[in-house]
Amino acid sequence: MTAEQQRHQQQLAFAASGAELEIGSAADCPLPLEQLVITDADSPWVRQHFSAGLTAEVYRIEAGDRHWTLKRARQRCKVQNVDGQTSFLNELQHRADIQRLKAGPGGFERFAALVDTQYASYRRGVLLSPWIAGKPVQDWTERRLLQLFDCLRALLLEGLFEWDLCPGNILDDGRIRLFDFGYMYRFDPLRHFNSNGTATPQFHGAERFETRHYFAHLMTLERQSETRALAALRLEKQITLDTYRQLQMDLAQRGASPVVLDWLAAICAGWQRALQGDLEDLYLEEAWRSHWLDLHDDLGGQTCTPLTLARIDWLESALHQRQADLRRLQVLETPGAGEDFREQLRLARQQASTWQVGG
Ligand SMILES: Nc1ncnc2c1ncn2[C@@H]1O[C@H](COP(=O)(O)OP(=O)(O)O)[C@@H](O)[C@H]1O
Ligand SMILES: [Mg+2]
Repeated sequence: MTAEQQRHQQQLAFAASGAELEIGSAADCPLPLEQLVITDADSPWVRQHFSAGLTAEVYRIEAGDRHWTLKRARQRCKVQNVDGQTSFLNELQHRADIQRLKAGPGGFERFAALVDTQYASYRRGVLLSPWIAGKPVQDWTERRLLQLFDCLRALLLEGLFEWDLCPGNILDDGRIRLFDFGYMYRFDPLRHFNSNGTATPQFHGAERFETRHYFAHLMTLERQSETRALAALRLEKQITLDTYRQLQMDLAQRGASPVVLDWLAAICAGWQRALQGDLEDLYLEEAWRSHWLDLHDDLGGQTCTPLTLARIDWLESALHQRQADLRRLQVLETPGAGEDFREQLRLARQQASTWQVGG
């Protein structure tokens, strides 16, 4: 059984068991729990309602002189797979881990980017956090990238792998904040690459950010100028390279296996080589990978948006204009797959148009 199947089995069993998972105490809620569980868009304490959420209803509420975020689990999740359907339970499990880490030595500082959990109950379907008065990140400055990767490195060291670093899951209120852990899974950082064990080495912390987020941002920059997009990739790569070198040292000190250390060393060596040159090949390679993977993520969950279509545009145009480079970089591995990719993208466009979710 794969690590993923094992997780699904355990989480589905937990869901069926009737057992409760609670974080904090209902007495710490700024409103009586009975009121929180019946909250809807018309409740007098609601200031804002985020209806775009796929797994939960999210409300900004005002209570006890401050603002909070209340996440209420949906009866039926809109994501069409087990990961989506267990994501509320999953989020609570890892919120519990995060609260423990924050309470440990130096934890408050090291995990400052992760939102606190004021109270949560799986059976009552509520999750309450302080409201973050921030904005989504439009401009990835050095400070923001450093804060994000500091946080990711700390999480990876503790064996927590965050898969969904999409634009809707990162805010900045003077510092970078993460608050949505529906797709955060545990793994053994000394032996495994991510929560799939050693089966999928292509997925790692920097890759997740690039795939879910950064290359969509770079796609916007490309429209202004390719030089700006390349400069933004250079900035990010310098920071990811430093981050991974530090991570590798920390993991080595903790006795990580050669499999993990060599894998990180190879990733670093590739980035280092690219940083010494003009970065154009790395850009093409990673942009293709990011758009391709994220497209399939959206298709897999049947959760497509206008961004999904923009990614298809990018892939089609790369296939048209940069086919020779893509082949030289072995991005299009299968022989004669050129036509195949075109056909796959045509199909993907059809599906992505059908599976647009409310935004
Ligand atoms: N603690 C918070 N502070 C401010 N905004 C938040 C907070 N939690 C969620 N949000 C807002 O609500 C949206 C949906 O919440 P999120 O936890 O990402 O749920 P989902 O699982 O539906 O993606 C976020 O994109 C963000 O805009
Ligand atoms: Mg989210």
